[in-house]
Amino acid sequence: MKSMLDAIDYVCREGKFEKTADFIQHGNTSCMLHTIAVAYYSDYFAQKIRIHYKRRELLIGALLHDYFLYDWHDGLPKRKIHGFTHPHYALINADRDFNLTDTEKNIIKRHMFPLTVIPPSVREAWIVCMVDKICSVYEVFAKDPYIRLRKILKANRVSVG
Ligand SMILES: [Fe+2]
Ligand SMILES: [Fe+2]
Repeated sequence: MKSMLDAIDYVCREGKFEKTADFIQHGNTSCMLHTIAVAYYSDYFAQKIRIHYKRRELLIGALLHDYFLYDWHDGLPKRKIHGFTHPHYALINADRDFNLTDTEKNIIKRHMFPLTVIPPSVREAWIVCMVDKICSVYEVFAKDPYIRLRKILKANRVSVG
């Protein structure tokens, strides 16, 4: 959990990550809680399957994968294609605010595969791409999502909106 909290601290300090707490992602899950959950479970999964992976880059890429910084439920006509376009906007914002590695860029840019046609090219991005889908479906249906994770975050004074 320490690496995770360090990564959250880094994206809050260097960029506008806290702003993602203001936007709803799915159901009643904020964009911030969603990306923290994707980072947490991507890291958990990578450890479970015992692969070699770049842990810090996986965590930061996952935290920034939906760093598009707008409310995609605002009803604007262009939001109809949000699913296809938001990785691009997330990458533009993240690239502006952080010194991203190629792995982090790949995680952000390719996380909507297969909706966006080009697949991830690194294992960290494949994991985030898969975990993002599982978390998204869970958030749509869960009444009170991520109870345990929210408790941990609260104990560490991370407010997720
Ligand atoms: Fe996304
Ligand atoms: Fe996502």
